Amino acid sequence: MHKSLPDDRLLIVDFGSQYTQLIARRVREAGVYCEVHPFDMPAEFVDAFSPRGVVLSGGPETVTEIETPRIPDQVLEAGVPVLGICYGMHALASQLGGAVEPSSKREFGSAEIDIVDDGADGLLGRFGTDGPLPVWMSHGDKVVSLPPGFEVAASTPNAPIAAMSDASRHLYGVQFHPEVTHTRNGAEILDRFARDICGCNGTWTAEQIVERAIREVRAAVGDERVVLGLSGGVDSSVAAALLDRAIGDQLTCVFVDNGLLRLNERKEVEAAFYRMSNALDPHLVTVDATDEFLGALHGLDDPEAKRKCIGATFIDVFQREAEKLEGVRWLAQGTIYPDVIESAASKFGKAHVIKSHHNVGGLPERMHLKLVEPLRDLFKDEVRRVGLALGLPRELVFRHPFPGPGLAVRVIGEVRREYLDVLRRADAIFMEELRRADYYDRVHQAFAVYLPVNSVGVVGDARRYAHVIALRAVETTDFMTARWAQLPHDLLGTVSNRIMNEIEDVSRVVYDIASKPPATIEWE
Ligand code: XMP
Repeated sequence: MHKSLPDDRLLIVDFGSQYTQLIARRVREAGVYCEVHPFDMPAEFVDAFSPRGVVLSGGPETVTEIETPRIPDQVLEAGVPVLGICYGMHALASQLGGAVEPSSKREFGSAEIDIVDDGADGLLGRFGTDGPLPVWMSHGDKVVSLPPGFEVAASTPNAPIAAMSDASRHLYGVQFHPEVTHTRNGAEILDRFARDICGCNGTWTAEQIVERAIREVRAAVGDERVVLGLSGGVDSSVAAALLDRAIGDQLTCVFVDNGLLRLNERKEVEAAFYRMSNALDPHLVTVDATDEFLGALHGLDDPEAKRKCIGATFIDVFQREAEKLEGVRWLAQGTIYPDVIESAASKFGKAHVIKSHHNVGGLPERMHLKLVEPLRDLFKDEVRRVGLALGLPRELVFRHPFPGPGLAVRVIGEVRREYLDVLRRADAIFMEELRRADYYDRVHQAFAVYLPVNSVGVVGDARRYAHVIALRAVETTDFMTARWAQLPHDLLGTVSNRIMNEIEDVSRVVYDIASKPPATIEWE
């Protein structure tokens, strides 16, 4: 796809830190466009990308070994400001003639640094005027001698060179992690680097993103027709809204009701989409494929088998529907930037995928369609801002994520229609009470799970066996790790009472108090 990048942009070089995406998010929050690329990116990329500045991420390796990642020469030769964070600082120091050694004491967690007064002209000076700065450290090595031209910019008792700078060449290194919220003024430090030091003007706003995406989509698609699979999730809805704005009538959305959706979800999606397109002919095709999905799932109880079955059935149904449409040449997908970064991560990186996430990979080739992905450059929070700027309803834009295989991974074991019906009602009660108590937006994902285990209850004078509902609510920033949410007992009590009183096929309600790791967020 043709790409028109904003002129003032930063390059984030990824050395494999778990925080790399956070650096990019903070830079984008400062209104500056940036992209993350692995340190072993093709040599000519740096010149072609032509950044106003470069941030070097942290990473799990040590520069004290020979075969470990290094900063590409093109970065050091580009003559633009460079900020090295943790491993990035070590690489900068060692490649420019300083020295790095394993620290006698690993430093992990909160620390305080003393910042050298630089007359507020440097990167850090202005943040040190109120005394030591609380920062987040996570390192084993430290810089023990400065490269020529550098000065100490901050220190801790354990790391006398906790930050270094060469103001004349605009090269900076910090041992701590400004991208992590535990570092006070961390976002401001990255903002200062991106805007004041690199001279970027901070105009990467939702409106600008929308305008740019519209230009790009129009340039790529021309007057050809596009089909998009609408799931009701934030990403596909925002992608639909954007394409609707860009190409209007050339877009058709296909919404597959797989029978695994939440209570009223189909109606809500249809309503939101009608409202959004504000047209009599909204180019939305809804397909009720409940029987087909439940039929295909019959007898399957293994989570991965269920996921695969749902993915394959989705592709069949979607392909069949899309082929009924005349002259479609493009498939639109709501792929977002974290998906792109993860699939492009360097061979040195990254966490393994624990569950095979539902996606529609393979569909474009199978249908001979070209792919258009208007959200490919955006983080989730940017996707949300774009959604609001395009007029999508708040409840949709700030909805908790919902897995592609839907309620099928929230009914443990074999999926049955009657279990889904109970689960939907229990889940709706939980969401309603979370909203009422103002907790929906305070947790990042919450849902009910259906456990088909018989447990004893008493109703009136009679004993009865019925199944169990588990409630799950978590707090997380990236869904890679998560804490179980400490919901008020009163709230949990209300939800439990309502479920037990309003749904007679439930004998017991339990609350899940497992964090991730070692548990995952979903039960399957
Ligand atoms: P886990 O359970 O792996 O979930 O801790 C992390 C996040 O991913 C979502 N999830 C999925 N999303 N297809 C999806 O589209 C899937 O198969 C799937 N499994 C988990 C989960 O809801 C949580 O937000």
